[in-house]
Formats: sequence, C-alpha cells, structure tokens
Amino acid sequence: MNKKRKPNYKLRRIIARVIIALLIIAPLVIIFRVKIINAPLYIKYHKNTDVLNALFDAKFERKEVKEFMPKLEKKGMNSYTDDYIISLSNKGYKPKTIEYILLNFKMGDTKSLINSKYDKDLEKMLNNKLFDYKNYDRYMNERSDNEDIDRTILRVTLDLDKDNYSDTVEETDPNSLTAFINKHRYLNEDYIPDDLVDMSDDYANNYYGQLQLRSEAYEQFKKMVDDANKEDLEIYADTAYRSFKLQKTIYNNYVYENGYDKASLYAARAGFSEHELGTAIDISNGYLIEKGDPEYNWLMQYAYKYGFIFRYYEDNVDLTGFAEEPWHIRYVGIDVATKMHKENLTFEEYWIKYVNKKEAK
Ligand code: DAL
Ligand code: ZN
Repeated sequence: MNKKRKPNYKLRRIIARVIIALLIIAPLVIIFRVKIINAPLYIKYHKNTDVLNALFDAKFERKEVKEFMPKLEKKGMNSYTDDYIISLSNKGYKPKTIEYILLNFKMGDTKSLINSKYDKDLEKMLNNKLFDYKNYDRYMNERSDNEDIDRTILRVTLDLDKDNYSDTVEETDPNSLTAFINKHRYLNEDYIPDDLVDMSDDYANNYYGQLQLRSEAYEQFKKMVDDANKEDLEIYADTAYRSFKLQKTIYNNYVYENGYDKASLYAARAGFSEHELGTAIDISNGYLIEKGDPEYNWLMQYAYKYGFIFRYYEDNVDLTGFAEEPWHIRYVGIDVATKMHKENLTFEEYWIKYVNKKEAK
C-alpha cells in the first residue's frame, strides 16, 4: 500500500524565509554595493566619507582611490575637495586628470578650470611627458587653436616662447656631436674646436678665406660629396666653421642691411650659431642649395647615411626660431642621424628625448 508522504512544511518554511530575506537584502546590497565592497576604505577614511563618495561617484576605481587617498590626506584635504572632485568629473575630466589637478594645481588654477568649459587639451597636456606644471601659464599663453598642444609644450620646453636671446644658458658640452645651440643656448666666446682641419678646394669655396671643419665631419662630408659627384651632382661648402668674431661680423652686417627682426630670422648672434661648432656647413652647387634642387633631393634621401642632417626647414621654423635654410646642413654622426631619420625626429626632439632626457614627471 502506498503511504502518502507528508509535505515537508519545515523545509518549505525555511526556503520561504530565505527568499523573503533575499528580497529584502538584495536591493540593499545593490544600493549600497559600493560601500559594502569598499567597507575597509570607508572604515579607514571615515572622517572623509564625503571625499570617498565623491571619488566613487566620479568613477574612480577602488585601486585608484587606495593610492590617491593617502596622497590627498597628506596634502591636507579641505572641505572643498569633494565639490572639486564632483565638479571636475561632471565637466568630463578623467580620474587621472582629477588626481593630478588636486595634487598639483594651485587653488586659483583649479578654480578657473572649474569655472570654465571642459578643456580637451588639458588631458592631452597631462599625458605629455614634457608637461611641467611650473610652465602651465606659459602653455596657456602660448597655445592657439591651430596648434597642437603637444607642439606648444615642445616649444615652451625649448624656451621658444621667450624673447630672442633672453634667459640664455651655455652649452657645457660643445665638443659633443649633439651640442645644441639656439637662441637660448650659446657657446663660450673662447670656444674653438681643437680638431679643425682645412678643407681642400675640391670640397670648399676657399675664395673668400680658407674654410675649416672638424675632422670627422670633414671626412664624412668628403665621402658624401664623392658619392654625390658619381650621380653627376655638384656639392661644395660655401661656409663652414665660423669663429665668434666672424659670426659677429656676419650678424652685425645682417642687422645693418636688413634690420634686427629680419636678421634674427636668418643669422644667429655671435655665440649662438651652429657654425661656431665646426660641424655646420652651408652647401652650394654654384648657388646656395635650394629646395627642389637635385642636390637637395639627393641629400634629403641620403645625407643621414653619412651623419648629416638638415637643421632649418619649413616645418620646424617654430622650433628653431630661424627661417627655412635648405642649404644649412650639420654633422651629428651616423648613429644620431639614422635614429632621427628612422624616428622622424627634428634635432630639437632628438636632443630633448635622448640627450637632455627631459621628462618633467
Ligand atoms: N644662419 C644660421 C641660423 C646661423 O647663422 O647660424
Ligand atoms: Zn648655415
């Protein structure tokens, strides 16, 4: 005979209670999940729960908060901190940007960010390795709508936003093939390279005076010219090494004939010319080389293989401070020239990246 099984009321009651409990707890867990997951942080920073809440509202990750909070506390959080976080986040700034602003920006700069429109350049700026908050005002003054902010930062890093020949520093390694001379970096007046050699008439126009070049640069120049000659191209030096005194005469004549502003674009003040390094050459094929000349095209393609680079071209006038000079080449050595060629770097970019290794952060 089949005995009818008695329903298990006890078990059913337990299941029902569990379901009711879950129905009550689940929404609470969903509502308070951030606090529950981050309970240890809330306990640790109980005095600053507003800030913590603001950070989580601003989509900071738990890991970011853990790293950021101690720094923020160290900086002395004030009652505005949570408002700032919320305002910056509402404008669209990312957690990393907000962190940088709160830790580094002066109160006035932070407030002006909060009171202005979202600035897309700011996140780009902070991601730039050269960004230095010390220069923030200069970036702001210099930037324009049609310039990429990374370029502005590069120019400011090179002091190109400053007046010509102001805030100058001496190049302390003038013998280096990557010595860097521009309107803010000069050579000691007494510097004369100790390995200058006379250039032969086969490679130089010595009509107005014997031209000289540093020996390694000269050896490489000869090889380059010999190979160019094989292609029926004519290349020789029109000027090469210039003493401080000679550069002074050239510059003064330029100013006399063209006025200061124009002279500043075409000739460097004595002490500030690459020609004083003994590695720069103005090249000629009967006339100073111009863009579009076959010699120019050949050099654009092959000069780096001999260690030479062009220094002043159309696209980097804003970085050099000098007008385009398709005739001005400079020896930097094969390795450097090749690296510049491969990475498509201007000399300024190369110098910052590999010589100066300037990284503000
Ligand atoms: N013409 C270049 C800029 C010089 O004077 O060195
Ligand atoms: Zn030159």
